[in-house]
Amino acid sequence: MGVQPAAVMELATGNKPRHIAIIMDGNGRWARQRGLPRVEGHRRGVETVKNMVSACYQRGIPYLTLFAFSSENWNRPSAEVKLLIELMYSTLESEVRYLHENRVRLRMIGDLSRFSKKLQRKIAEAQELTRANRDLNLTIAVNYGGQWDITQACRMLARRAAAAELDPEAITQTLLESQLCTSALPPPDLFIRTGGEQRISNFLLWQLAYTELYFCDTYWPDFDEACINDALAHYAGRQRRFGKTGEQVDEEKF
Ligand code: IPE
Ligand code: IPE
Ligand code: MG
Repeated sequence: MGVQPAAVMELATGNKPRHIAIIMDGNGRWARQRGLPRVEGHRRGVETVKNMVSACYQRGIPYLTLFAFSSENWNRPSAEVKLLIELMYSTLESEVRYLHENRVRLRMIGDLSRFSKKLQRKIAEAQELTRANRDLNLTIAVNYGGQWDITQACRMLARRAAAAELDPEAITQTLLESQLCTSALPPPDLFIRTGGEQRISNFLLWQLAYTELYFCDTYWPDFDEACINDALAHYAGRQRRFGKTGEQVDEEKF
């Protein structure tokens, strides 16, 4: 990366998102278009991940969350699943030191218990190594599902209620939110889905409540600086009202 975050490429106008969440979609179609096996699309997708980490770092965007493997992706052919998991392992192995040197904190969210002990150990080591880093919070969602996340949060609270440690009446939105696996992150300001589909596919269901949604047709391996700039320009042009009127929001600015 080699540049100071925030010091460069300040967006010309408007607001900059603090947290971007991306559904990286279209790897398979990118490969098919070129007569390549789907795995090539996934490999190229990893290159885009690296570019986007740099792009966020250079723009001083402190939180980037990427959907890499959904709880539903186990339904794919087993050879593809195996390959995706191997790619996860080898990318962790090759990239963690670089992330650490660039003061990136890595978090992996999702139900990690379904992965091998070896991969779980690798994830734990990477998280531990980068724990104190502050310049960019990179979160990768693997075996993640928004419905699973809300369910596991409810289960935690129910356990405490059953043990009489928690009064059910004391369960608030804030308390439930504190049990989601994104509790250390602010809610996403900007959601991007590449690959042309306009759906959430069980990503951050709770967390996207007030997020600005941006969909583009570009396949993830082709998503580049120009594409992220378009998404940021779209975001900068939005007025976030959080239920208020546009006039109220305008007045608050002054
Ligand atoms: C996204 O690309 C990567 C994962 C879901 C792991 P896809 O593999 O879904 O690509 P398409 O949608 O088939 O093109
Ligand atoms: C969503 O993409 C999951 C990830 C990008 C990891 P999919 O390609 O799995 O989504 P659907 O099945 O088309 O909705
Ligand atoms: Mg897809």
